[in-house]
Amino acid sequence: MARKPTVGLVGWRGMVGSVLLERMRLEGDFERIEPVFFSTSRAGEPAPDIGRPVPPVGDAYDVEALRRLDVVVSCQGGEWTSAMYPALRRAGWKGYFVDAASTLRMHDESVLVLDPLNRARIDEALARGARDFIGANCTVSLMLMAVHGLLVRGWVEWISTMTYQAASGAGARAVRELVAQMRAIGQAASAALDDPACGALELDRAVSAAMADASFPRAELGVPLAASLIPWIDRAVEDGRTREEWKGHVEAHKLLGLDPPVPIDGICVRVGAMRCHSQGLTIKLRRPVPLDEVEAAIASAHPWVRLVPNEREATLERLTPAAVAGTLDIAIGRLHRLRMGPEYVGAFTCGDQLLWGAAEPLRRMVRILAGAL
Ligand code: HSE
Repeated sequence: MARKPTVGLVGWRGMVGSVLLERMRLEGDFERIEPVFFSTSRAGEPAPDIGRPVPPVGDAYDVEALRRLDVVVSCQGGEWTSAMYPALRRAGWKGYFVDAASTLRMHDESVLVLDPLNRARIDEALARGARDFIGANCTVSLMLMAVHGLLVRGWVEWISTMTYQAASGAGARAVRELVAQMRAIGQAASAALDDPACGALELDRAVSAAMADASFPRAELGVPLAASLIPWIDRAVEDGRTREEWKGHVEAHKLLGLDPPVPIDGICVRVGAMRCHSQGLTIKLRRPVPLDEVEAAIASAHPWVRLVPNEREATLERLTPAAVAGTLDIAIGRLHRLRMGPEYVGAFTCGDQLLWGAAEPLRRMVRILAGAL
């Protein structure tokens, strides 16, 4: 586009949307576009501060206003997409739709975006007139960012991924509830903690009693996540899998066009981390590649991968949700050969679910559309 594209932003007050806005401000993206903010509940209010005057917030259900835009970016969620995307296309809108929700991901016309890995596919799609560019599932994007160096060389036969997914992936209410659970536990254990004579088992009894109590906050998550975990994410699909587990294989293949296919499967688990998803990977290589070559391939895949040496100190310092949260780093470490045979490699990876897992691929897609990436 020769002029600055007009970009409608929908759902910018939620977790992913707020991170997106923050990143766009930081990277000067608003200088490249003409933004218009939309909301399902705050139409008419002043738009958020982007350093220059912009129109007041529009109504996110106003087809006439949205269809005048070159680009619509949504972090509003699947319900809005299900209602408004077909309405906009029916109204003849030919603009680019950039969405965080999963609604359109598996549509034939949709392109999954993660440009450090699939820029060529994005460019080809743009050239043939594709208009729907959708962010992939956070767990999938973070895993692919971690091991793309191996996949791109065709070295990988299959990957088993066991996830440790943060509360933020379940939404803002889940994050609040996790912290409320932590508080309830802290309050129940406070007296025992302050008494140096109190043993660990007594402390555990206080914590367990609090978690079992009817007053323990669980309206959102259903069960305790703090001091526990939940080995089930999203709804059941076929063959004993959850939908989150199903996405691992199908979205990775759609995103990268892997051929021959590389089976990707495992078990997805919610843990009490705030915003970083971690994954324990078992990687079966097609042949026994030396470990230093595996490391070099991983480390050189793109500028955000951080190879952490398989040592205790480095792991504790750089390969935890606490260390990675709020950064664009894709940390991967614990790399070592597994007992199953010379083709088997174990690894552990950690990335911010709100950044590379959600907001960053969308932000960069807008930049690509503005001709500035
Ligand atoms: N579905 C992911 C999760 C979040 O539940 O953690 C976004 O893809």
